[in-house]
Amino acid sequence: MAEAAITPAVNNLTLSDTIPQHEFSQRVLIRTILTRPDGGAGLANQTLKVGGWVKKGREQGKGTFAFIELNDGSCPANLQLIIHSDVGPLGQFTPTGTCLHVEGVLQMPPEDKQGKQAIEMKVVKVLDVGSVDPAKYPLPKTRLTLEFLRDYVHLRPRTNTIAAIARIRNALAYATHTFFQKHGFLYVHTPIITTSDCEGAGEMFQVTTLINEAEKIEKELIKNPPPTQEDVDSAKSDVKAKGEIVAKLKADKAGKPEITAAVVELTKAKENCSKIEERFKLKPGIPKKDGKIDYGQDFFARQAFLTVSGQLQVETFACALSSVYTFGPTFRAEHSHTSRHLAEFWMVEPEIAFADIEDDMKCAEAYVRFLCQWLLDNCLDDMEFMVEKFDKNAIKRLQMVASTNFVRLSYTEAVTILEEAVSKGHKFENQVEWGIDLASEHEKFLTEVKFESPVIVYNYPKGIKAFYMKVNPDKKTVAAMDVLVPKVGELIGGSQREENYEVIKERILEMGLPLEPYEWYLDLRRYGTVKHSGFGLGFERMILFATGIDNIRDVIPFPRYPGRADL
Ligand code: 4AD
Ligand code: MG
Repeated sequence: MAEAAITPAVNNLTLSDTIPQHEFSQRVLIRTILTRPDGGAGLANQTLKVGGWVKKGREQGKGTFAFIELNDGSCPANLQLIIHSDVGPLGQFTPTGTCLHVEGVLQMPPEDKQGKQAIEMKVVKVLDVGSVDPAKYPLPKTRLTLEFLRDYVHLRPRTNTIAAIARIRNALAYATHTFFQKHGFLYVHTPIITTSDCEGAGEMFQVTTLINEAEKIEKELIKNPPPTQEDVDSAKSDVKAKGEIVAKLKADKAGKPEITAAVVELTKAKENCSKIEERFKLKPGIPKKDGKIDYGQDFFARQAFLTVSGQLQVETFACALSSVYTFGPTFRAEHSHTSRHLAEFWMVEPEIAFADIEDDMKCAEAYVRFLCQWLLDNCLDDMEFMVEKFDKNAIKRLQMVASTNFVRLSYTEAVTILEEAVSKGHKFENQVEWGIDLASEHEKFLTEVKFESPVIVYNYPKGIKAFYMKVNPDKKTVAAMDVLVPKVGELIGGSQREENYEVIKERILEMGLPLEPYEWYLDLRRYGTVKHSGFGLGFERMILFATGIDNIRDVIPFPRYPGRADL
């Protein structure tokens, strides 16, 4: 008993005669009942409390009792409740979406119903009801499309699909920390607000208070019109006059109280004058200097952005603490309306010192395979739901990835394969030739048609990749690698970093980027430089890959994309 009470992963519960109440809330998690190896049968006759939301409810026996399917989000399965009419008004308990907190006795269902559920609950007391007006509740019982649900991001966690995705997402986050911690990586929190553009692609959201400040001033000036030049002149002459009075009194050797009173008047006039001068300077609009926006007056006294990647900052820790990773939200102001892009997405970015591109690929592959195995071991019930509702191959895909070595090919080999496909009549919308950035259709061809497996493409032309990637001896390619997977295409982008000071400086200049903002980054190469590598895994892309869900907007709790940022 005591052992079960301290086990956080309730899946691991052993058969026992009693079941612990959740330590921090007034109920038992439905998962602790239904996911026992005996389906909960061994708990018959126990009295306990559960809480959750009604999935389905129906009155029976001419309104003498009701069957209710209750779900609390702890697992995909519902607990069946039986409530008799002497317990309370059944009509209030049955509508879909109603919240019920009840106390009851677990019992084996009648013999003819046992196939479905090993255990059900006979409710003896309804402790709390959060009722729902079924005529108004936006999420009725009928199956709703994921697209429709995007208009209800605040209610959609109540649906089986979004709940299952949330549990899978949670499991992948836990697995991520487990994998990196197990391999001696240190978790580093990189900043969300940054002043450097990691990818150099100019797709950054700006962080500024200049606009709201300007709006505030504009409103203020309408309410309280600014002083005119005459107001300023008159305040100045008032100061002058008051000053002359003080001077005269002093010259006339007037009494101390008289002088003090005049000085008080002078001070008041000076304060009034400086206030008027200050307000006179207020100008509507964004402050400008030499015809350009004056970021010196912005919150950080310089231009700032939301990060597109924590890589550059996490490199500072890799170049001191060796193996590190960051895992946080990243932001890209791309106007892409695809099912693979978000404006706000989460990225897992390990950075490894004393590691080259080979080590990097090894780490990426081991990590992705670990994630797949983790879901098979810890989320099978949710994965079975995905297979039933969305993608019959989802579990097979996880098994395949967990157990197969990834194909590795150089970019040049990949292009040759694509060109061969074209010569055999395969049609691509985007032309294939050495030097192009692989389009999503090319990536899909490699992983879904040619190899039917994850593929790592490495050594890309330097012209299409970021400045920080290590230039190969051929001077044409960089030690970059992308992990491509079926269904999703690019899941991971990474590289060995250019650790040579002269070369990276040259690359920054070659790409037309200013040196000054990267001086701190160059310092990492000036002082104690180290061979190092890293990559970024798009967390939502991993969830797409695992679940088989089609649109990335449905695998993040609060999707942000062009034109949309609800809540
Ligand atoms: O390939 P990317 O741009 O690589 C980087 O940002 C590197 N700084 C990572 C590193 O080396 N530390 O992005 C990495 C991954 C992509 O492979 C993709 O899975 C995902 O991030 N990604 C997106 N996911 C959702 N929406 C978007 N707009 C994304 N852009 C990239
Ligand atoms: Mg990339």
